[in-house]
Amino acid sequence: MLNKDMAKRAAKLRELINNYRYNYHVLNKSLMSEAAADSLKHELSQIEEKHPELVTPDSPTQRVGGQPLPGFKQIRHSSRMLSLNDVFNREELEAWITRATKLLPASANLEFWMDIKMDGLAAALVYEEGVLAQAVTRGDGFVGEDVTMNVRTIESVPLRLRHVKGPSFHKFLKGRTEVRGEIVMYKKDFKKLNEKRAKASLPTFANPRNLAAGTIRQLDPKLVAQRPLHFHAYDLIRNDRGEVPTNEFAYKALRELGVIANSTATVAKNAEQIMKFYKYWEQKRQDLPFNTDGLVVKINDRRLHDRLGVVGKAPRASVAFKYPAEQATTKVKDIFVSIGRTGAATPVAILKPVVVAGSTVQMATLHNEGEIHRKDIRIGDSVIVQKAGDVIPEVVKPLAELRDGSEKPFVMPTHCPDCNTKLIKAKETEAVWRCPNNACPSRSWKLIGHFTSKGALDIESLGEKNVVSLIGAGLVKDPADIYTVKKEDLLKLERFADISAEKLAKAIADKKNPPLARFVYGLGIRHVGEQTAIDLANHFKKLTRLSNSTIDELSEVEGVGEVVAEAIVEWFARPANQKLLKKFQKIGVKPEEVRRSTGPLTGVSIVVTGSLDSMSREEAAEKIRALGGIFQSSVGQETDYLVVGDNVGESKLTKARKLGTKQIDEQDLLKLLERK
Ligand code: IVH
Repeated sequence: MLNKDMAKRAAKLRELINNYRYNYHVLNKSLMSEAAADSLKHELSQIEEKHPELVTPDSPTQRVGGQPLPGFKQIRHSSRMLSLNDVFNREELEAWITRATKLLPASANLEFWMDIKMDGLAAALVYEEGVLAQAVTRGDGFVGEDVTMNVRTIESVPLRLRHVKGPSFHKFLKGRTEVRGEIVMYKKDFKKLNEKRAKASLPTFANPRNLAAGTIRQLDPKLVAQRPLHFHAYDLIRNDRGEVPTNEFAYKALRELGVIANSTATVAKNAEQIMKFYKYWEQKRQDLPFNTDGLVVKINDRRLHDRLGVVGKAPRASVAFKYPAEQATTKVKDIFVSIGRTGAATPVAILKPVVVAGSTVQMATLHNEGEIHRKDIRIGDSVIVQKAGDVIPEVVKPLAELRDGSEKPFVMPTHCPDCNTKLIKAKETEAVWRCPNNACPSRSWKLIGHFTSKGALDIESLGEKNVVSLIGAGLVKDPADIYTVKKEDLLKLERFADISAEKLAKAIADKKNPPLARFVYGLGIRHVGEQTAIDLANHFKKLTRLSNSTIDELSEVEGVGEVVAEAIVEWFARPANQKLLKKFQKIGVKPEEVRRSTGPLTGVSIVVTGSLDSMSREEAAEKIRALGGIFQSSVGQETDYLVVGDNVGESKLTKARKLGTKQIDEQDLLKLLERK
């Protein structure tokens, strides 16, 4: 970027971040997640690091804390309420420990105190002679807002500290005792409240923390009392600091005094033990009642805190050990359209690589054209991307404020980018455009891969790579072409030698009469999965009957609803697909008809529910069908047996009871299968 552009970008980032902060802290409105805002701040500080001349006094990188809200009395904290520096991995954690060790005498006992970092808002409760005198928000760290009346409504805040006997804790009931902690709203309460607000057409809150913050800054304490808030303490402060020697002691004392302090907090001796705790809670954090984005790790011995001191706004003796952010900001470099197996044209964003939740993301799905226009995502936009769980990353929204005029709106191509066929929509109301050409190269390699996959034709040794080379060599354009591939053709490809070519040619020839269900599944009709294909095959028995069926006829099949029926009719109606079926016929590929009158289970309909010990459901289906029986997916009038396996769902049992279907177990099924 040119210096001029850099200055412009920095100014825009500053404005956007400041606007976010104002909305968040003053209006309690969240314009984006904190992770996304942090990501922008990171970009800004990188620019400022490279170009210190661009730093302005009002830059968000130069400031600490929030702005006090007009309406509450301002209170100066007895000691500054600090923030924490972040570390994100073992390396950074160890670097923090090393730095601290260097500053401490060799004799220091370096033990750590770890707690969950709660996602709420910090508050300081001041007790005078054991009685709650004042509650103050963090504010900018020096001055906060007097929210005593509101905090008094929080049930878990003792208005008077519990009377404790014994010399070690009794002193905290005398003079001034300050308890610092986090005001949180539990996830379950947040959900309930937001649902209620949505029903009443009131604006909903973005997250429990916003709701907690919004609540505590209400000017009417009666309203606050109606909202369930909790206070979890993490600090105990006395004028004589020696009265609280360690953080472990602080937590013990707090609990004795009747304040909640997380019971999960514990001591660690070294980085190894901290890592273990960190990983444990990374997995288990969903089970916590409140949100968290990491741990707080402090040196346990509080005398060492004073020795280590403060840098900027953070103490050297503590860090926040954060979990990787699930959102980040980056730029959309381009948008292209990817054609899937069923022809669906999905726009995909190519991103400037960015780390989200611990892994680098370079692409994100944009779902469909409508979604791009609704969100107004343009090529060149700065965007927020997110990853939730294992799902494909997605673009949450563009940051329109950061546009410089060079961004280009995305235009959905009218034709397939691979084969230039005109894209179509099955219905006007459909969101997804499709390439209707079965022979489209990108469609075909995915479709052919599907046709030959394990659940469909199960052609051994024809993997994805071979499919791609066959298409590349012009030998195969659609699933039917697979059957025309000869040994000599395969030998021309790099990957094949005499034996492997012969083996594959034979494997293909062996599958000229596949079971109808597998063939139907292999066609890749939208919504037709393995089980639906089995049900269709059982019902129609012949491919020609299925291909000529109407929506009404299809709807008679158990488990086939309107959407599936329409997709099937539409597939068979397309000329390209009719051509494909004719081609199969010409080559001599003929799926086996399902016949009832061929085995000992002829005319017997069986449903399997739950899992079996001796075989998978698919194996059971094949065995039943091999003996002439009908394998159904759900219980109906005509079902003869319901085989009850392990972990069964209640619905099938209820239906079987209602219809008087005979229930048998796995052993009975095995006996039926042995009938010869
Ligand atoms: S100890 C110097 N323990 O995180 C502050 N803080 O970024 C040391 N927080 O403002 C605080 N859970 O509001 C501590 N278990 C916990 C915490 C916690 C949440 C908040 C706190 C503080 C911020 C620091």
